[in-house]
Amino acid sequence: MPETRKYVDQWLRDAHAMEAQAETILEGQINRIRHYPALAARMKTHLEETTSQRERLEACMERRGTSTSGLKDASAKFTAMMQNLGGVFAGDEVVKGTLASYSFEAMEIASYRILAAAAEAEGDTQTAQLCNEICREEEAMADWLKEHMPNLTLAFFDRAKSDDTEAKR
Ligand SMILES: [Fe+2]
Repeated sequence: MPETRKYVDQWLRDAHAMEAQAETILEGQINRIRHYPALAARMKTHLEETTSQRERLEACMERRGTSTSGLKDASAKFTAMMQNLGGVFAGDEVVKGTLASYSFEAMEIASYRILAAAAEAEGDTQTAQLCNEICREEEAMADWLKEHMPNLTLAFFDRAKSDDTEAKR
């Protein structure tokens, strides 16, 4: 099924660019968060997972004999950098960042579920397994964010009493 194979390769490249973007976004957020240690710690763990996901995708693509799209990765990183800059001056960055992170995780979960089904259809069980494995890591991150959202919001209100933007991060 050459058509199926073509799409799996294309979507693997998209997923790779998505993880490169996630790394940049997470690095930026972790560097700015000061007063939410649980959030920062969970993000650090997920950054390590994200780097490993990117590497596992690279190994997968190498095994399949396809390459990553350097151009796509570069533009994804640029978009992420701009997003990070956008967060620098926002007083409610922790809340907006949590919202954005949860949305990003939802996009990742959908991408890997689609990829797993496509790879299964192509007959590449190993790629399907990898995508399911990564999907579970994204689901765990999404669940954590969902569970902690109310408390993060309340913690933000506590800190929001200060006029200093730094104090709200
Ligand atoms: Fe990811």
